[in-house]
Amino acid sequence: MVVPRPVRLESSGDSSDSAPFILSPSARISVAGAGADAVARLLRAELASDCGREPVIVDEPPAFGDIAIVIAPGEGPHEDGSDSAEGYTLEVAAEGVRIGAATPAGAFWGVQTLRQLVPASCGGDVLTIEAVRVHDHPRYAYRGAMLDVARHFFTPAEVKRLIDAIALLKVNHLHLHLTDDQGWRIHIESWPELTRVGGSTGSDGSRGGFYTQAEFRELVAYAAERHITVVPELDMPGHTNAALASYPELNPDGVAPALYTGANVGFSTLQTADATTERFVRDVVREVAALTPGPYLHLGGDECLSTTEADFARFMRDAARVVAENGKIAIGWHEVGKADGLPAGMVGQYWDFTTPRGRADELALAFVRGGGSVIMSPSDVAYLDIVYEEGDPIGQDWADGPTSLRDAYVWDPARIVPGLGDAHILGVEAPLWTETVTSIEEAEEMAFPRLAAVAEIGWSAAPADTDPVESVRDVTEFAERLAKLAEHWDAAGTQYRRVPEVSWPEPARWS
Ligand code: ACM
Repeated sequence: MVVPRPVRLESSGDSSDSAPFILSPSARISVAGAGADAVARLLRAELASDCGREPVIVDEPPAFGDIAIVIAPGEGPHEDGSDSAEGYTLEVAAEGVRIGAATPAGAFWGVQTLRQLVPASCGGDVLTIEAVRVHDHPRYAYRGAMLDVARHFFTPAEVKRLIDAIALLKVNHLHLHLTDDQGWRIHIESWPELTRVGGSTGSDGSRGGFYTQAEFRELVAYAAERHITVVPELDMPGHTNAALASYPELNPDGVAPALYTGANVGFSTLQTADATTERFVRDVVREVAALTPGPYLHLGGDECLSTTEADFARFMRDAARVVAENGKIAIGWHEVGKADGLPAGMVGQYWDFTTPRGRADELALAFVRGGGSVIMSPSDVAYLDIVYEEGDPIGQDWADGPTSLRDAYVWDPARIVPGLGDAHILGVEAPLWTETVTSIEEAEEMAFPRLAAVAEIGWSAAPADTDPVESVRDVTEFAERLAKLAEHWDAAGTQYRRVPEVSWPEPARWS
C-alpha cells in the first residue's frame, strides 16, 4: 500500500514471523553510518508531527523493538551487492524496523515508505505496523515537480509545504520557474530593479513578491535536507517582459514596456545580439549558479515566438555556454534542440504531447546526439495546470485537456519519442504553471493526486518491452493505494482533488 509502488514489497502477514511491529514508548532510533543521524532526525520529526512520538536517537546497535537506520556499502536493495544511489531495503517485524541503504538519500526514501506504512491515525497508545520486507530503487535518477512562482508568487513557507508533500512521493527535484513575463522572483544583486520593479506584481495583478538571496539559499538547503535538488529556471530569451520592464536598456528603443499581468505568451524577447543583454545574461546566470549547489540551471527557451530562428539558436548556444562556464549543466525546453553547438551533456525537457507533433521528437533527440539526456514532461498527461474536468474553475485546457488521473497515470516515458529509451531519459517531471492558480492550497489540489501518478511512473519498475502500458498501470489498483495515501494527506493538511477514480477517505466531520 505504498506510492510509488516499490520494486518488491512482500507482506510477511502469512508467514511464521508475521507478528507486527509495535512502537513502544521506549523504542529508540538506532543509527549506523555517515548521514544516518540526519535521516533519523527527520524520521523523528515526522513521527512527532504525524504521531506525537519522539524516540531518542542512539549511536548503538538496535535492541528489540527499535528502529534501525544503517547506511553502508552493500546495504542497498540489490542482491548482487551492487549499490544504487537511492535504493533501500526496509524490514518491519516484531523484533524491530530496519532500513538499510548505501546512501543517506536511499535511507531517506526508506523512511518515506515507512511513513506510508504507519497508520495515518497513529496518535493513540499503540502504534502497530504490519510486518513487511521491501527492496526498492528508482527507475530514473530525476523525478521532478515544477512550480511556476513567476505568474503567481509563492512564499518560502508555501514552497516548503510543497517540498514536504513531494518528499513523501520520493520526488527528488523541485524545478522553480523563477522568471516570466509576469514576474521576476529571485533577487539579483547586480540588477536590483529586476525584483524591485519586475517582482512587484503577478498574473491578474496579484501581489507579486520575490526571494532574497538568503531566503533562496535557505529554501535550497531545506530541500537538500530532504534529498530534493532545487532546479532554478531563468526563462530566456522569451518570457522576459518582467526583465524588460525593469531595465529600459534591455529594450531596442531604450523604452521599458509596462508590467504585464495577462496570460498571453510569445510576445517578449531579449535583444539577442547586444552587449547589454550579454552582460545581463552573464550576471544573472553567475549569481543564480552561485546560489545553487545542485548541478542544474534551467534556461527556458520555450515559446520564443518573437525571436528569429537564427537569433534564438545563437542566443541559446551562447547562454548555455555561460551556464557551463559557471559549472552547471544547462537544461532547456525541447525547442532549444534547434541550436547547434550546445555544451556537451546539456539536458532537454520535452513538453510536447505523448504523440509528438511537428519536430518535437527530433528536437528532443538533438540533446542525446549532444551527449545529454532528456526529461519527459508530456504536456497532455504530465502538466498539472490542465483542468481535471471540463468546466473546472481553476486550470487551463490547452494541452489536450482535460487531464484525468487516468490520463496522468497510463503512459510511459520510453514510448513517446521513437529512439528515446531509458538509457537517455534522465527522468520525468510534472510542471504546475500558475496563471490561474492563486494559492498553495489550489496548487496542491492541481498537483495531487496527479503528481503521485507521475512520481510512480518515475520511480516504479518499467513495463517489459512487450507489455502494453496498461498492464503495469492498473488504475483500479493505484486508486486503492491512493486512498491509503490520502489518509496521510488528510493528516498533513495536504489538499487534493477528490477525483472520481478513487474511493477517498470520508472527509473529516465536525465532532
Ligand atoms: C511550456 O509549457 N511553455 C514549456
